[in-house]
Amino acid sequence: KIFHSVGEVIEWRKCQVGDRRNISVGFVPTMGCLHNGHATLIKESTKDNDYTVVSIFVNPSQFAPTEDLDKYPRTLENDIKLLESLKVDVLFAPTAREMYPRGIPLNVEEQKGPFISVLGVSEMLEGKTRPNFFRGVATVVTKLFNIVMPDVAYFGQKDIQQFIVLNCMVNELFFNIKLKMIPIVRNEAGLALSSRNKYLCDESLVISSNLFKGLQTGSDLISVAKQNKTVLKRQNVIDAIKATWKRFLDSGDFRIDYVSIADWNTLNELQEIEPSDIKIVISCAVYVTDRLDKGTVVRLIDNIIV
Ligand code: PAJ
Repeated sequence: KIFHSVGEVIEWRKCQVGDRRNISVGFVPTMGCLHNGHATLIKESTKDNDYTVVSIFVNPSQFAPTEDLDKYPRTLENDIKLLESLKVDVLFAPTAREMYPRGIPLNVEEQKGPFISVLGVSEMLEGKTRPNFFRGVATVVTKLFNIVMPDVAYFGQKDIQQFIVLNCMVNELFFNIKLKMIPIVRNEAGLALSSRNKYLCDESLVISSNLFKGLQTGSDLISVAKQNKTVLKRQNVIDAIKATWKRFLDSGDFRIDYVSIADWNTLNELQEIEPSDIKIVISCAVYVTDRLDKGTVVRLIDNIIV
């Protein structure tokens, strides 16, 4: 079933599922241009639940005026084919008016109405470069949760800070929904699948797969230090990652936004990595300049949990 209005989904939820306790609804929110990463989340949901709902909505409130809202790839016909092949029960593909009845001006100063902010964990890393991004994400996900009323919602490790922010929101605002994080799906070269990879030429995609190789170098260093029970300085890990990327930093293919070695719970940066530290997140955001069209600069993110 394909629904475009909020009312249709609420009606489906009420009639089809009601409050029968033994029936579970899984939910996968997306912005479309679906790839194998999204498909993995969806498969996990259809495996776990009686019904699976997927949403496709390019959410304007999480884009800054300078970002790619208009350019963001939209491939609804192909997406629908994929969802059919995965036996998804419901696709919810609303318009912006449907989700934000009073409109959503791109200029944050002009925005009105209710928004959800998760202070703290949303302010570092992605939040630094994209100040209102997580406010937009938390708000739209809250709206979607209230419409779909899922039992379980699926998110990718690819956007690890998004998962941490939403998990904090769900726990502390007492949403009756369980969030599940699915590991990053990569291509053979190691590049994390992303809808934004579409902006890059083949050569730049191959180059971008070195992002993961860099993070792996850092991860290996931490693993060895842990095994040897030695304390590792943050800067040593950062240097090792940057050394792996040196060629591409020198050539101008890569420009670093951030490289972070942080604690999983708080996302606070670790100055030293102790052997007893568990769940360390190594993450990065890097601007990649396209080799064919130098005017195209794509911001890619990746991470490894050690
Ligand atoms: P989108 O970028 O479309 O991603 C939808 C979901 O797919 C997110 O949970 C994301 O982490 C996951 N995902 C993307 N690429 C992945 C990969 N290579 N491996 C594993 N999972 C991957 O994230 C959003 O949309 C939006 O912010 C949204 C949550 C829908 C709110 O608007």
